[in-house]
Amino acid sequence: MYLESLKGRDLLSIADMSSEELTYILELSLKFKRMYYDGYRAVPILANRVLALIFEKHSTRTRVSLQVAMHQLGGTSLYLSSQELQLARGEPIKDTARVLERYVDCIAARVYRHETLVELAKHSKIPVINALSDYEHPLQALADTMTIMEVKGSIRNLKIAFLGDGSDNVLHSLILAIAKLGGTIYVATPPGYDPSREILSIANEDAQKSGATIAVVRDPIEAVTHADVVYTDVWVSMGQEKEREKRVRDLGNYQVGKELVSHAKKDYIFMHCLPAHRGEEVTDEVIESSNSVVWLQAENRLHTSKAVLASLIK
Ligand code: CP
Ligand code: NVA
Repeated sequence: MYLESLKGRDLLSIADMSSEELTYILELSLKFKRMYYDGYRAVPILANRVLALIFEKHSTRTRVSLQVAMHQLGGTSLYLSSQELQLARGEPIKDTARVLERYVDCIAARVYRHETLVELAKHSKIPVINALSDYEHPLQALADTMTIMEVKGSIRNLKIAFLGDGSDNVLHSLILAIAKLGGTIYVATPPGYDPSREILSIANEDAQKSGATIAVVRDPIEAVTHADVVYTDVWVSMGQEKEREKRVRDLGNYQVGKELVSHAKKDYIFMHCLPAHRGEEVTDEVIESSNSVVWLQAENRLHTSKAVLASLIK
């Protein structure tokens, strides 16, 4: 049932997976969801395994979905706020890694600097999962693509429009996933907020094989016209609070509101990783509309978390 190539591996970026591995994880997530609805919540394949969660930032969905997923797979999890670990008193991350690998079977970490994850992974033999960094949020992209597949049937031939901060962590992972799965993604963002060049270059390489299209534009209407999916994320991510005023000013024209979504297809879906700031990147009217699938998207974090844990943990 499990793909041997994924066992023991880290998941720091969507780029860590091949298109086949990504498709496999998404199919497994759908299987876990079907089993859940058929009454099989507990699938004890990770009995006696322990997941450690090291969180430097707040979380609702990521923390809860990983902990519940681990529990339903028969294992257990430890939530470790970085403030309560010796890390906060200066113990190096590489020492923390070499100690934790002797107790637990997997680490999920939410960090400010992506390099912290790289360091953690370098110094531990157990799988390290990116639970969000300043650069990527791969677990979110898995739930996002699963949701699109569930609602729209496939990613291929779909137009996805992302509005707002083009350098957003959630968007980076989404671009990489869409590039592997052969979709079309239009990012509408102002100058100075373009996606990372490295992300675009990896995505464009994948796009050549999958037939995907990745476009960065300035005009929100161009991105949203005939879109099947309209996606946005907050303008001020965790750790960017000092830039709030500038960001809200720069991104103000990219709010997802009723007029803008009138350019999308009639049956478009609205997506947001949550938490949302109503009145900033999206209006209350759009997020509460019948086109919005944000709760389904959040729900799918549980099933994708299960697929990741079941696939990576030995
Ligand atoms: N979308 C997401 O990762 O939510 P949390 O910050 O609540 O984990
Ligand atoms: N871009 C947001 C995502 C939160 C899930 C942040 O990093 O704060």
